[in-house]
Amino acid sequence: MCSASAMTAGVAYGEPEPSAVDAREHKLRLGGKAHWGDTPMPPAAERGGPLSAQDAHTLVQWVLSQ
Ligand code: HEM
Repeated sequence: MCSASAMTAGVAYGEPEPSAVDAREHKLRLGGKAHWGDTPMPPAAERGGPLSAQDAHTLVQWVLSQ
């Protein structure tokens, strides 16, 4: 049974918090480091070209759906 608080907080399975989605889209476009010590994820421009907000959104939705 899901609790109401879990639902409103957006932590129910399949419903990631919007801020978590935004953070990942941001990292996918601009890179950065946070969770892997000093190893950064390179920005999209260094990985072969710029990544549009729409494409970042599509990629993050796919990653979070796995
Ligand atoms: C299309 C290609 C890529 C996709 C879709 C992708 C996706 C992601 C996502 C979604 C995260 C955030 C994970 C999270 O915070 O939950 C992440 C982090 C990371 N990625 Fe990538 N990535 C890609 C390419 C790369 C490449 C080419 C590298 C290195 C050469 C890389 C290195 C890293 C590192 C080191 C992190 C952790 C950064 C941190 O400490 O927060 N990624 N990646």
